[in-house]
Formats: sequence, structure tokens, C-alpha cells
Amino acid sequence: MDLDRGKIIISGGKPLKGAIPVSGMKNAAVAIIFSTILTEDKCIIENLPNISDVKVSLDILSSVGVKVRQLGPNTVEIDSSVVNPGIAPYELVNKMRASYYLIGAELGRFGRAYVGLPGGCDFGIRPIDQHIKGFEALGCDVKVEGGYIEAAAQNGILRGSSVYMDVVTVGGTINVMLAAVRAEGYTEIENAAHEPHIVDTANFLNACGADIRGAGTDTIKIRGVKKLHGVTYTIIPDMIEAGTYMILAAATGGQLTVTNMIPKHVESITAKLEEMGVSIEEDGDSVTVSRRAPFLNHVNVKTLPYPGFPTDMNPQMCVLLSLARGTSHLTESVWESRFRYVEELKRMGARITVNGKTAEVEGTPSLRGARVRAVDLRAGIAMVIAGLAARGVTEIDEIHHIFRGYEDLISKLKAVGADIKVIVPKATEYEDY
Ligand code: EPU
Repeated sequence: MDLDRGKIIISGGKPLKGAIPVSGMKNAAVAIIFSTILTEDKCIIENLPNISDVKVSLDILSSVGVKVRQLGPNTVEIDSSVVNPGIAPYELVNKMRASYYLIGAELGRFGRAYVGLPGGCDFGIRPIDQHIKGFEALGCDVKVEGGYIEAAAQNGILRGSSVYMDVVTVGGTINVMLAAVRAEGYTEIENAAHEPHIVDTANFLNACGADIRGAGTDTIKIRGVKKLHGVTYTIIPDMIEAGTYMILAAATGGQLTVTNMIPKHVESITAKLEEMGVSIEEDGDSVTVSRRAPFLNHVNVKTLPYPGFPTDMNPQMCVLLSLARGTSHLTESVWESRFRYVEELKRMGARITVNGKTAEVEGTPSLRGARVRAVDLRAGIAMVIAGLAARGVTEIDEIHHIFRGYEDLISKLKAVGADIKVIVPKATEYEDY
């Protein structure tokens, strides 16, 4: 299906009600898929979200000779006994950011890697200097030339070392962890990122026989092991998908029970929603979300590394602030430019002024449907939330971004009462999907 030219059509303004399940976490899945290269064995990965970033990650593995077998809609068997490092096609790795994990995984397994520079959402400059610094500390020579990164350790042997991250980076922390898992000796990553997907990746590697301690804290300690073995492993639920549906309930004034999630992972989101006047009732692995009053209160929000408010919830939160009473401030402190979606939201009647890293959001009682673009993944889902909350019809273009990260989005939303569909072009006209 040609989603690149497809559109989402929403007839908004209906409160959504019912249960909405959360799929496996995208950013854990992509890290774990590449980590399987370190095992030389078969792994079965369960609860993999059926999204395009996972598909591209598996295609990249296949392109380097790994055997990938789909065992069910959310389960794959990955057999990494044979890997041909150095031949991943640029067109594939350039499609997504997480392809940089191929570098750490190949270095960990072979002591060398040759991989195209990663693509992904455009938030301004997306450097990988901290990844490179970590690889160099482990004894690698690293060159970046002609759109490729080439790294190799002397005699193919990486040596454990102490690595201090100058900025808190999710990808940098995971990549250095991958490279260090089979290095000789002991590695310490200091000022490490704390995100749940870092813990999930470390748990996967430990289940394969790695010796990683402290994942989820500032300091990750890795004692290199000679070999890893295969396992069956289940990916944790996606905290950003969970947070997205929590905001959707509040934005549409409905009541959603978000199921199959880990409430602890969304504490920063829960805290802000409660401050806005949203009721959140936790019950085991689900939360039920609804407004306590017809109005939402304005709040100030600043994105931060975990356990702070996630940058990947910035656009969704901006939609909710647009519907609150009074003026809110939303400050982005992780990415350089994450407000590209603001112009789209303004077409729907939102009143937002961006000054550098802060958006001033003046609440309005309602948004109105319009034709908008999904400028990136989280910006795209924010347009879906805005469209479902708005009066009238919203038409969203460039929707391939959205399907990079949200499994079964349309059917999950229809099941809670949304009037939403995807249309894809067929020759000269559009047909329903
Ligand atoms: N940074 C550096 N140098 C580096 C690496 C990062 O300066 O070597 C800076 C970045 O420029 C940014 C900050 O550090 O300002 C954080 O970047 P980080 O490395 O943590 O981001 P990432 O690993 O590339 C992951 C997620 C993103 C999410 C960020 C922040 C994956 C595949 N991607 O990216 O998720 O926004 O962490 O939490 O895990 C998304 O899912 O929509 C998404 C974009």
C-alpha cells in the first residue's frame, strides 16, 4: 500500500470511550533487534510492534545475511549465526535513526563496522559524537566519510574502558553498551541515559549471558563476556504510545482505559495531566483517563531525559495545552527544533507563539478541522489527536511518518468510537482502506 501518498481523514468532536491496548515499545524493539547480532544464535522476540521502523530494522538485518522468520504477527525468530558486516544498503539505514545500533552491534561481534549514517525524524542537528567518543574509548579508530561511518578496533579486539557521556543520550548509551558487551575487560558508562528501553535492552542482553549492571541509573557497569547465547524475550509496552492515548482521552473529553502498559513509566505524564484537572485511575497494568471538569487547567511543561517529561510527548501535549483554559508554556530541552508542527496546529485554530525553545500556548475552547501535514512521527500523531478533538473534518497528509511508530492505529481508534479512515490513491482517485 502506498502510504506515502495516503491521507488520514477524521471527522472529529466525538468523546472517545472504551479500552485501548498498548503495543510493544518501538525504541526498545529497534535496539533489541540489532542487539541480536551479538549472539551468533537464534533468538525469539515477542511483543514486537508491527510498525514500519521494526520492519526496516528487520530488513537491515536480512540485508547483512541474518535469517529472519516471522512466527506470528508480533513474534519473530532471528538467527544471527551468519552475518556479513559491511554491506547494509545506504537506502535502508538512511530510513531510520536507530540503524546506528548496527555499528555498536557489529563492533561488539566483529571488532569492526561499516554502516551508512542514520536517518530518522528531522529535529535539527542530530549528532552522534558521543557514540563515536565511546567507540574510541573502547579502542576503535572511527572515520566518518561520504555518508558512511567506519570503525575498527586494533586486531579486532575492543578493550573495556571508562566512558563519560557529555550529554545524556539514549542512542549513545545503548550503542556503547552493545560495543562493550563482548569487549575484553570492564567498561563503565557514566552520565548514562535512564530510559526504560535502555533497561529493556540490558535485560535482553543479560538474558543472553551478558554481565551488565546499573542500567536505568547514571552508571552502567559492563564486564565483557566471550559469547552470548540465544533466548526468547518479550519487549516491554511502549510508554509513548500509552502517554499518547492518555492525552487523547483528555483532549476528546472521553474516557479511555489504556491497557497493557507500565504506569510507572508514564509518571511524568500522569503528574502533568492531573495538574490540568484530568483524573487518572491506575489498576495494575492499565489506567483509566477522563476529565474531572469540563475545562482543562493551563500548566507549564519542560521536556527532559527520563524520568522527566518525554520530548516524544511534546507535540501531543501541545495539542492538549491548546485546549486548556489560560496560557501555558511548553519548553523543549532535548532537541534543537521540535516545534515544526506548530504551523500545522495553528491551521486548526491553535494559538501558539514559539520563542526559541519555548512555545507559549494560549488555550482556546475548541479546535476546527483543517488540512494538515504530519511533519514527523510524534507531530503526526498530535495531528490525529487534534483532529479527533476538533469540530469538523481534518485531512492529514504525509502519514507514513505516523505508521513508523503506532501499531494498528486506525483499528485501535475505531474500536473506541473514532470516525477515522485512511485513503490511499488508486490511479487518479482515492479509495478507502
Ligand atoms: N546528542 C549529542 N550527541 C550524540 C547523541 C545525542 O549531542 O552523540 C544530543 C542530541 O542532539 C539531543 C540529545 O543528545 O539533543 C538527546 O539525543 P538522544 O541520543 O537521546 O536521542 P536518540 O537516541 O537519537 C532516542 C529516540 C527518540 C527520542 C530521543 C530522546 C530511538 C530510536 N529514538 O533518539 O525517539 O526523541 O531518544 O528521548 O530510541 C521517537 O520515537 O519519536 C523518537 C524520535
